[in-house]
Amino acid sequence: MDILFVTYLKKYLFRYLIGYIFLLFSFGSIIIKTRLKIERVALMIKAFAIDLGNGQVKARSDKRTLVAPSILATEKALGVGSLSDFETDHDYNVYESKLNIGKRYIWGTDIKEKVSHSDLIPTYTHHKRYDSVNYKLLFEFALAELASDCNRKHIEVVLVASLPSDEVRTEADDSLKTFLKGTHVVTRNGKEHVIEVIDVTINEQPLGTLLSENMNEKNQINKNVQTKTYTIFDFGAGTTIVDTYRALKRIPELSTVIRTGQNDIYKQIATSLKNQTNISDIHYSHIEDGFRREDHTARISDRVHPGFGHLINDPIEAFCEDIITKTNTVIANRDIIDGFYLTGGGANIVGDAFKEALQEHDATVEAEEPQLANLNGHYKLAVLKRDHLLALRKETAATKE
Ligand SMILES: Nc1ncnc2c1ncn2[C@@H]1O[C@H](COP(=O)(O)OP(=O)(O)OP(=O)(O)O)[C@@H](O)[C@H]1O
Ligand SMILES: [Mg+2]
Repeated sequence: MDILFVTYLKKYLFRYLIGYIFLLFSFGSIIIKTRLKIERVALMIKAFAIDLGNGQVKARSDKRTLVAPSILATEKALGVGSLSDFETDHDYNVYESKLNIGKRYIWGTDIKEKVSHSDLIPTYTHHKRYDSVNYKLLFEFALAELASDCNRKHIEVVLVASLPSDEVRTEADDSLKTFLKGTHVVTRNGKEHVIEVIDVTINEQPLGTLLSENMNEKNQINKNVQTKTYTIFDFGAGTTIVDTYRALKRIPELSTVIRTGQNDIYKQIATSLKNQTNISDIHYSHIEDGFRREDHTARISDRVHPGFGHLINDPIEAFCEDIITKTNTVIANRDIIDGFYLTGGGANIVGDAFKEALQEHDATVEAEEPQLANLNGHYKLAVLKRDHLLALRKETAATKE
C-alpha cells in the first residue's frame, strides 16, 4: 500500500478519534452537571415537622428529634455569674429573631433549671395563642434549631405543623399559616439562618398518630385506615383531644377538644402536697418532672424532695372519669367505632387507668412513643410532600436542560 495513503489515513483517523472523544466528554459532562444540579436541588429542600404543644415543643427533621418545654426566657434572665464564662454544661441556645429585633432569648431542654420560675415566659394559653409574639418566636426557634443541623445558611423547608383539632381550618389556622409561610431569619448562637418555608400543611394533632401507626417504611398508608373509623384520645399537657376519623377525615360530630389536661392533674397533686408538707415552693412543674423521672418526687432541691406517689391515684381516676363522661356525650354509640388509640405524653401517666375506665381492651392500641407519635406521623407526611415536590422540580429542571 502506498505509504503516503497510510500516513493520511492514520492522521485523519487520529483526528476523528480525538474529535469523537471530545464530543463524548462534552456530552458526558453535560449529563453529569445536569444530574448534579438536580441532586443539589434535592438536597436543599428539607422536610420538617413541628408540634408546638402547650407543654412541650416536639420537632423533627432527618437529622434529629427535639423535645423542649414550650417556655422561653430572655438572655438577661440567666444573670451574670462570675463563673458564667466557664459554664459549658447546659442545653439551651441563644436566639434572635427579626420579629423582635435587639432582644436575645434563650430556649432549650434545660431552660427550667437555668432560669428562676418567675423569669420563665410560658406560651401556654388558650386565648389567641397564634397571634402572640412569644408563640411565633417559639416556632421560629424550633425552625432555627432544626436548620442548625444543615450546613447551609439558606434552606428551603416543607413543613407540616399541627394544631388542636378544633382550630384546624379556622381563623387561627389561617393566621398561623400566613405567618409560617415565607422567609424566617433567625440567629442562633450568633449564626444567622435563613429558613424559607415553601410549603405548609396544618393538620389536626391526633391525625399524626393515625399516620405514624399506619404508614410503613415506604410511607404507604395501611388500607384499613382509609376505610375504617377510629377514635383517638390525645392526652396533652393543657388539652385532651378526643377525635374520631373515618377514612382519615375528622368527623366533628364525634369529636371534642377538652380544655383539661395533665397540667390539671399536676396542679391538684401540687396543692395536696403543699398542704401536707407546708412547703410553699412546690410548683406544678415539679410534679411533672417527678412523673417524667418516674421517681414521683417533687425535687425542690437536693435536700428537699417530698414524694407524691400516694397522692396520684385519686386525681388520675377523677380525670379519666371526666374524660369518659365527656366522650360519651359526643360518641353515644361506640359500636360504630372500629378501634381506639391512646396517644400524647399523658398516655404515659393516665394510659393504664384510662384503658381500665374505657373498658374496650381488645380494640384499644397504645401508641408507640406516645409523646412523639403525632410528630412522627406528620414527619412522614412532610417527607412524602417533599419527595413529591422534588419529583416535580427534577422534572422541570430536566426538561429545561
Ligand atoms: N415519658 C413520660 N413520662 C411521664 N410523663 C410524660 C412522658 N412524656 C411526656 N410526659 C408528659 O405528658 C404531658 C403531655 O405531653 P405532650 O407533649 O403530649 O403535651 P403537649 O402536646 O405539649 O400538650 P397539648 O397537647 O395540650 O398542647 C406533659 O406534661 C409531659 O411532661
Ligand atoms: Mg399535644
